[in-house]
Amino acid sequence: MAKFIPEHIISEIQSSVDIVDVVSEVVILKKAGRNYFGLCPFHSDKDPSFSVSPEKRIFHCFGCGTGGDVFTFLMKLNGYSFPEAARILAARCGVRIPEQSLTPAQKRLIDEKTRLFKLNAMAADFFHHSLLNGVSGKNAMTYLNRRGFSEDIITRFKIGFAPEGWDNLLSFFYKKKAPLNYVEQAGLVVANKQGNGYYDRFRNRIMFPITNIAGSIIGFGGRVTDESLPKYLNTPETPVYNKSRSLYGIDAAKTKCRTNETVLIVEGYLDFLALYQAGSENTVATLGTALTNEHVRMLRGCIGANGKAILVYDSDLAGIKAAERSIAVFDRGHIDARILVLPAGHDPDSYIRKHGRDSFMRGADKAKNIIDFLTDMAVKKYGHSVEGKLRVLDAMIGPLSAIDDINKKSLYRKELAERLDIDESAILHKVRDRNGKKNDTRSWVSENGAMISASNGSGGYTDGETETAKAKFERRLIAMMLQFPAIIPEIENRRLPYFFENNLLKTLGNTILKYYADSEGHVAELLNGIQDERLRAMATSLAIDDRTWRYEDCLKLINQFESGIKYPEKNLSRKIKEAAAKGDDVKVIQLLAEKQKYVRNKAKKKCVRRR
Ligand code: GTP
Ligand code: MN
Repeated sequence: MAKFIPEHIISEIQSSVDIVDVVSEVVILKKAGRNYFGLCPFHSDKDPSFSVSPEKRIFHCFGCGTGGDVFTFLMKLNGYSFPEAARILAARCGVRIPEQSLTPAQKRLIDEKTRLFKLNAMAADFFHHSLLNGVSGKNAMTYLNRRGFSEDIITRFKIGFAPEGWDNLLSFFYKKKAPLNYVEQAGLVVANKQGNGYYDRFRNRIMFPITNIAGSIIGFGGRVTDESLPKYLNTPETPVYNKSRSLYGIDAAKTKCRTNETVLIVEGYLDFLALYQAGSENTVATLGTALTNEHVRMLRGCIGANGKAILVYDSDLAGIKAAERSIAVFDRGHIDARILVLPAGHDPDSYIRKHGRDSFMRGADKAKNIIDFLTDMAVKKYGHSVEGKLRVLDAMIGPLSAIDDINKKSLYRKELAERLDIDESAILHKVRDRNGKKNDTRSWVSENGAMISASNGSGGYTDGETETAKAKFERRLIAMMLQFPAIIPEIENRRLPYFFENNLLKTLGNTILKYYADSEGHVAELLNGIQDERLRAMATSLAIDDRTWRYEDCLKLINQFESGIKYPEKNLSRKIKEAAAKGDDVKVIQLLAEKQKYVRNKAKKKCVRRR
């Protein structure tokens, strides 16, 4: 973790920002006791295992083990570096980070993304201005008006126009003295073949700025105003733009998605705009790519655990393809997903212009879940004959196998059996066959290809080590230290961590003692200072628990622990006596040395404490 922002500034930010506020922007939180709970944004969470403690200023997921303070949250969520997270939070709570504490190299690193956002924002202004005021923008404006888009919506989404020609934006940035290599990095201009200059990437196109969930412009989509190809041109991959993690309109849609607990997912920029203009503000558009796990996670943060997603497609075929591809994604994301296919020849934009939004919404309300939709499609295709039923069954085995949720799967199996009027066990066999093959390659690899590290939510005891009763006790003591720091002096006096058996807990115990010896501190700060990822996760999980400690109970626990300790001192004395009785002089000397070392250590520790 970079340390070039002064500690006191970091503390100031941490104590001024409300972690619940920050997390609430992406996760719906409900209060239970002193903590808040919601669905984890870092893994496909089925029950709310994600917990936030406003008092301790930390979060922890009991499902995937991710945890930390408000800085960690933003870093994990958005891939920010520590300074980036710090700057964003500082701006939020009005704390000023002194710039002079940064070296030029550090500053460059922090500034990269901010710079890209800035350049994109400048380009968006340029394009928007060209659409509204430029001579060449007239055509594009006429086109947009003809398609029914109001001035309001054009302004709201800062729609623009990239004029014809190779160097309009280029000259704009040149005049603004923006370093062109950065403009190239933003994907706005392209280096020419000779390598001695650049040209505009977007020419003669209507420009749609794409934002992230926080509203910063990460890239653009550009549409031609005629029949030329390609119809759309998008920003290439940049440090801030990645289409599998971005959804057009997410920033504008997030609030309504939350209140309606529903999101409409469409395919086109113009479909999004038409729906938004018609009042369906809980809409997002994919950017020419199939829905990814990241998309689903992001949406789930907006619609919540009981939310539903309605995918809108413009043909049976497109619907079937998307449905088949996305079953597993939605299943993993635990989202109730429906499919709405519009009548032939219509996309959402053309449909609501012709039939109105109400008609569209009635269709959306009746949208079928993915499996029912696919069954309908298969029945429509193959019919009800015996031969037909077998084919339907065949067609549905794949989709059913993609569902991992056992209860859901069994429900669908029953439904399918009833619908086809066949024996359910026939389906069961087929699905099992398929799943057996699938599991050979999948069971130990997580969805993003990383090895699954088992997590039992009990504070980081993984690695297959079974926890001994002693270690369990040690863990309770650490939890107590983290949750009730008033007990720390007592723990220190009795040097409890010294007697810990579990090495990780021992390290953690000593870290906590050292932290509180040096400062008054706050638990979030303590956790922030732990460099080892595993140790930090364990500490966070133990710290976040919401229970009330009483001093007397703590003492009882400590006494209980001590009565179980076999003091090495006593042990050594006994061993020395035994060895002496046997006349084993070598052993006696060896044991005496050991005892001396132990006593010396103990004395040293006492001195340090009293200093
Ligand atoms: P209109 O035809 O103007 O109504 O736009 P549309 O958005 O309805 O277009 P269409 O249904 O053809 O495409 C849907 C979405 O797919 C678009 O909004 C783009 O995100 C993407 N897309 C379509 N064509 C292209 C293309 O040529 N290149 C890229 N990169 N994406 C495209
Ligand atoms: Mn369209």
